[in-house]
Amino acid sequence: MKFTVSEKNLELLSAKLLAVPAWENGITVPEQMKFGGEPIQKLLEQTSKEEKFGGELEKILFLPVAHFLPYQRLLLVGMGKQKDWDQERVRRFSAWAVRSAEKVSAESIVLDMRFFKKLPLDDVIHALVEGAELGAYKFLKYKTETSLQKMQLTEVKEIILCGVEKAKIKKVNELISRAQLYAKATMMARDLINEPAGVMTPKELLENAKRIAAKNKNISLKYFNREESAKMGMNAFLGVGAGSQHEPFFVHMTYKPKTNPKNKKIAIVGKGVTFDSGGLSLKPADMMLDMKIDMSGAANVLAVFSVLTQINPSVQIEGIFTAAENMPSGSAIKPGDVVKALNGKTIEVLNTDAEGRVCLADSLSYAVRLKPDAIFDFATLTGAAMVALGEEVSAAYTNDKKLLQKFNESCELEGEKVWEMPLIDDYMKKNQSLVADIKNLADNRWGGSITAALFLREFVSDIPWIHFDIAGPSGVWTQFHVVPYIPQGGTGFGVRSFLNFVERNY
Ligand code: BES
Ligand code: ZN
Ligand code: ZN
Repeated sequence: MKFTVSEKNLELLSAKLLAVPAWENGITVPEQMKFGGEPIQKLLEQTSKEEKFGGELEKILFLPVAHFLPYQRLLLVGMGKQKDWDQERVRRFSAWAVRSAEKVSAESIVLDMRFFKKLPLDDVIHALVEGAELGAYKFLKYKTETSLQKMQLTEVKEIILCGVEKAKIKKVNELISRAQLYAKATMMARDLINEPAGVMTPKELLENAKRIAAKNKNISLKYFNREESAKMGMNAFLGVGAGSQHEPFFVHMTYKPKTNPKNKKIAIVGKGVTFDSGGLSLKPADMMLDMKIDMSGAANVLAVFSVLTQINPSVQIEGIFTAAENMPSGSAIKPGDVVKALNGKTIEVLNTDAEGRVCLADSLSYAVRLKPDAIFDFATLTGAAMVALGEEVSAAYTNDKKLLQKFNESCELEGEKVWEMPLIDDYMKKNQSLVADIKNLADNRWGGSITAALFLREFVSDIPWIHFDIAGPSGVWTQFHVVPYIPQGGTGFGVRSFLNFVERNY
């Protein structure tokens, strides 16, 4: 999508669509459009009455204005109450604008920045670009020509941001490029997640890491196959991958910054189960439908690394994931088996479907050895986190509240919802094993997201750490979902907040 910045006012431009925000209570022609004269006000009054449009959130109204304005259509996007206007509403506004433009085959949209004066320009531009790019995202790789024709898709090719002061044009262009990188990374994660598990195998995840390392001089890659990982003592994730035809891999990427004034190093760790059938503790058919998303954590790591060079944060970043497929077979790990993780702790595997924590036991132990200043893990870990917080919110667990506070600021800015959950020490008893150091299945299912997080804590030593259980927000599978810049499928949740966090804090 191309963004053009112009100092002109909207009456001097022309496009198929002009999109403007409309607030509840008294829909009137905005000040900026008074040049259109009386007729627009009349048309607006009449049509909004007919279509019962009152600027309500998520409602839209098209007006045929070609007679009065240099635009074919005027699109009003309902924004709710003006007092609630914030960066997230702007993000949703531009996503609605793009999705509505697609419906009326408009390939270009004009947005007038004077409508957004109430918020800081930086925030507005960032959100507008993200909303537009992410709202237009589609995964169409497997649609054949016939289906595509039936869908009659229009692609919005250009968005013109007008009414920008001349002195600010350069700055605005920089902000656009940055937001486009955020969106590009998020869409890369979506592509990786949406790819069927038959294609997105552990090997394919590794290939993606190789491609990123080959493209970026400041990113290096180490990886270990089954044999090498076994030699190193990473038998936990190997156990998870034991039932699959596809060889599991351990992947470690390093980003070295140009400058590192604070001399800091952080690690991002992802769960990379390319398909979670449950293993011998097999999932019921309908619980398996979406389980290609179980590599969302690894997708986040790859997505972040794909743009680090351009974003250029001043901190060394270690990206770590285990890539494995969880399948039942004669060679699969069995309930009751015991595996030893890299840090020497033994794990009794009582339910092969609680495989995420077993994989993370190795990748977190490995991260600890690198002595980072902080570890962030992203994992589609438990259905229990979804029961607690629903599909839009990630659970967060931490041993360092200040670190989470800082991270939360980034989530706030990026519109990604995170809620802290407690690490209840007493519940650790539920993870006690009769035969090994710890077991992967708690005594009962209550607080299942907490007991999983407590399990992970055993593998992070005393390093500041945040665990994000992203089982809910990693994918959208219902049509009722209302966030217009998050279409159905993999979402890439966490990528933008993480990028924002590294930019702001180092
Ligand atoms: N990958 C699943 C968790 C999941 C569920 C992710 C739904 C996304 C959507 C995980 O490996 C799993 O199966 N967890 C089990 C753990 C249980 C057996 C202790 C669960 O949550 O049911
Ligand atoms: Zn599972
Ligand atoms: Zn899983």
